[in-house]
Amino acid sequence: MKVGIVGAGMVGSAAGYALAMQGAASEIVFCDRNADLAAAQAEDISHAVPFVSATVVRAGPYQALRDAAVVILAAGVGQKPGESRLELLERNVAVFRAVIDDVLAVVPDTILLVATNPVDIMTEVATRLSGLPPERVIGSGTILDSARFRSLISRHLDIAPQSVHAYVLGEHGDSEVLAWSNAQAGSSPVTDFAEQMGRPITAEIRAAIDDGVRNAAYRIIQGKGATYYGIGAGLARIVRAILNDQRDILSVSMLMEEVQGVGQVALSLPRIVGRRGIVASLMPTLDADELDALARSARTLKERGAGLVF
Ligand code: LAC
Repeated sequence: MKVGIVGAGMVGSAAGYALAMQGAASEIVFCDRNADLAAAQAEDISHAVPFVSATVVRAGPYQALRDAAVVILAAGVGQKPGESRLELLERNVAVFRAVIDDVLAVVPDTILLVATNPVDIMTEVATRLSGLPPERVIGSGTILDSARFRSLISRHLDIAPQSVHAYVLGEHGDSEVLAWSNAQAGSSPVTDFAEQMGRPITAEIRAAIDDGVRNAAYRIIQGKGATYYGIGAGLARIVRAILNDQRDILSVSMLMEEVQGVGQVALSLPRIVGRRGIVASLMPTLDADELDALARSARTLKERGAGLVF
């Protein structure tokens, strides 16, 4: 199946490279207002394909998106060192206003996968501008944060990250919520597992993991100017769940009627992702502090997105 990628910058090209290396799509089409960039990214990635897959990778105008099962929206500006994701909002809303109608004119029944930050509010923007049902406008949300969370827990426990089940919820950003209370290693609560392994998760370890997740992007941006490999792989993970109807439970963002008393907000919860987009959303069992933090995260997003006119 075909996957479109609008925005051939670092995030879009990393997603396209991950998809091509995994052979996840039969065709990948890059669109960008900078046609030369889109063509160069497509040609460069197409030279990697013969080593691993048979994916057709090309660039073109929006018409080339026809029949795309998923269109990744990665167009917009990224954070500068020290800049928060929420500060990008107005610039990137203007980009989406210029892009979404043109995409849907060519592929009205696609699933939009939003990567542009601030991704939760941009997921709401894409939902309202496109008029698609919320279940077919998925934000990458905290899928990357959950991967960071699992990676750091697994490193502390000296086990494979795939054996850790832990979610980050709410905003993909400073107010995100690390759901420690229901984090699992194998079939045990992660804290019990840690005690049994003689690697207790002390308050210091917990604080270090929290910082490692919450502030990862700031550190990476400070060091290399942008993040793209982690989010690229996360986007490819969501695309695979859609194209293969895998019905995986992924922490992704979607516009919801109400979360923790906050109406009409897009944020991440564990959601079942399949061929029709988001099949169902799950409200995990959280402790009182986590529930309060999730409500604060929802309010943060609601306040930042207030005043947007669609
Ligand atoms: C990050 C970007 C994708 O967290 O927001 O790396």
